[in-house]
Amino acid sequence: MNKIKYGLIGASGKMGKEIISLMNENENELVFKYDIDGESFSEKPEVLIDFSLPAVLGKTIEYALKFKSPLIIGTTGFNEVQLKQIREFSEKIPVVQSYNFSVGMQMLIQSAVLLKEKLTDWDIEISEIHHRFKKDKPSGTAIMIKNALGREVNISSLRLGNVAGEHSVSFGGLGETLTITHSALSRRTFAEGVLRAVKFIVDKEKGFYTIKDVLDKEQ
Ligand SMILES: NC(=O)c1ccc[n+]([C@@H]2O[C@H](COP(=O)([O-])OP(=O)(O)OC[C@H]3O[C@@H](n4cnc5c(N)ncnc54)[C@H](O)[C@@H]3O)[C@@H](O)[C@H]2O)c1
Repeated sequence: MNKIKYGLIGASGKMGKEIISLMNENENELVFKYDIDGESFSEKPEVLIDFSLPAVLGKTIEYALKFKSPLIIGTTGFNEVQLKQIREFSEKIPVVQSYNFSVGMQMLIQSAVLLKEKLTDWDIEISEIHHRFKKDKPSGTAIMIKNALGREVNISSLRLGNVAGEHSVSFGGLGETLTITHSALSRRTFAEGVLRAVKFIVDKEKGFYTIKDVLDKEQ
């Protein structure tokens, strides 16, 4: 695939730096970036990526409309109004939005849904651990798992050191428990999912997609 010219919102953040590093390795070109210290622009991006904060959403949408660029949103912690805004925006511009861009997380969700269907009278609990700097609680991923399970499930959150992200779904019957865990060992796994999403969305028309659509398309 040809070199892709991309823009990045939240470019100075932990995920922003990880994305720049992986996109560089793959010879894609950063042509627009935006963070609290301002913007820098050299060319119109073919794809715009946002890993920042929910408060930045209005600005992100403004830029995506200005550039007419497909948008990838990894930011977590949006409220219901903002989530609706993203859906409505995808009627004009293609959007990939996911609270977790790792491949393994999709496997955890599929496995958890399967177990829920088999273990009908077992208790289910979700737990998540993240680094001390994480702003939202519970994590967007834990909410995504809960939504996939489609029932009321308690979520426990721990904020510890520099853990990149760990999510477990535990099932309990009378006499036994079963836990499945996904650990992100570094932020690179999320950046790799973003790169896959970039390749997926660059030539799409309008529409709302998730990382599941990206991975399903690859199979
Ligand atoms: N979807 C995923 O797979 C995934 C994975 C990891 C993190 N995240 C989410 O991505 C987001 C960023 O995570 P991070 O770890 O890089 O955080 P971070 O705090 O390191 O980076 C956020 C960046 O946004 C910038 N920013 C904040 N307010 C701004 C404003 N008003 N205008 C412009 N820029 C602003 C900050 O300066 C910072 O550079 C968080 O919401 C996090 O939960 C998602």
